[in-house]
Amino acid sequence: MEIKRENLIATLGGEEAVARMDSETKADALEDFLSTELDKILLSTDPFPTVAEVEAKIPTRNYRMGAGNLFVATAPGAKVKVLPPMPEKPTLYDFFALRFAPANHVLQSAALAMKNGMSEEIILACLLHDTAQALLKADHGYWAAQLYEPYVPEKTAFAIKYHQALRFFADPAYGYEYPDLYRRLFGEDYVPLPHIRADYEMLKKHPWYEAPRLVTVNDFYSFDPKAKISIDPFREIIDRHFKQPKEGLGNDNSPVAHMWRTIAHPDMAL
Ligand SMILES: [Fe+2]
Ligand SMILES: [Fe+2]
Repeated sequence: MEIKRENLIATLGGEEAVARMDSETKADALEDFLSTELDKILLSTDPFPTVAEVEAKIPTRNYRMGAGNLFVATAPGAKVKVLPPMPEKPTLYDFFALRFAPANHVLQSAALAMKNGMSEEIILACLLHDTAQALLKADHGYWAAQLYEPYVPEKTAFAIKYHQALRFFADPAYGYEYPDLYRRLFGEDYVPLPHIRADYEMLKKHPWYEAPRLVTVNDFYSFDPKAKISIDPFREIIDRHFKQPKEGLGNDNSPVAHMWRTIAHPDMAL
């Protein structure tokens, strides 16, 4: 793996800031920079692997690629950290600040959607589309849609759910190409699973096809070290469209309350 030095330095606040760091701080910063397997894969310049090569790596890890980000420290030798406690009645903002952070990818996606003049339902979908990866990465669109269904507009949940399937299928009409990231993650000769193919066939004829497609178009994954996006530009949209339960997410007895509790307390042993 090759790390772009200038990206790393910029992420850490520039040469001067790095010069002031002691070696432990530097090590921590490097660990944060390479905090996920996905980040490492994104930085790779190796040729694309085959499906067989991707599979051959499975028994080299002590975790599975589909594990949620909160549950595993993937950098070599890294340990998971003690998480800050959640407030008694947590809001979506608390989950962003204390469990999804830094959430750069979804914040950048939502910013791009806003810049591209998307509707508020789609901007909200972009903001939330990958956040369930804190819980589970495997089938993350389906998990996320379920997590958010009680609280967001129907079209937002639909867009979140099916962005995952549409990511596997190019659509030149929207300027969406099959991503190199997927060639790297799944293997060059990968064939999407049957449920993904079936959902794609369903979506092609669906009147809401465009909703998840627009999430894929604004799905922004790049290391942009200068981009420091906060949730603030999206507060009005969240406040207008997200039905925050007064008891707090996880305490509202909704069918998905346990999912929020698991994200709030991933260190519960049982
Ligand atoms: Fe996604
Ligand atoms: Fe994404």
